[in-house]
Amino acid sequence: APSSRVSLTVNGSRRTVTVDNRTSLLDLLREQLGLTGSKKGCNAGACGACTVLVDGRRVNSCLTLTVRLEGAEVSTIEGLADGDELHPLQQAFMDEDAFQCGYCTPGQIMSGVGCIKEGHTGSPEEIREWMSGNICRCGCYVKIVRAVEQTAG
Ligand code: FES
Repeated sequence: APSSRVSLTVNGSRRTVTVDNRTSLLDLLREQLGLTGSKKGCNAGACGACTVLVDGRRVNSCLTLTVRLEGAEVSTIEGLADGDELHPLQQAFMDEDAFQCGYCTPGQIMSGVGCIKEGHTGSPEEIREWMSGNICRCGCYVKIVRAVEQTAG
């Protein structure tokens, strides 16, 4: 299959990769770069477990082709903490107990970071609406929204 070389930044590090042109960003992260924090739930854009930021915007990495990312800046859950210091939203998820099984949590947190950046945090309903692409099978939505709300201030 045709392949391409792509240079991009992942969590602040420049990476040049050679990928099959059909490789999703999610597979690049998990299989080639060893960043397994982003989860593969549905692999079809329906669950949000694979959410990362590309140039500051939320995307489902399972639907994002790596070949489209020349020069892009990708942020994943692995890059969120500052050394030993958790990102405020990570801390808020801990404080609020905003997860049970944890499978959706990296995607929820990256989506929450995007939601806060976008300013869609005026009310619990607004947060819920703008994070509606992130499914939680354990039903932790109330606590997830609370964690996002607290972090947004
Ligand atoms: Fe990408 Fe479900 S794995 S949206």
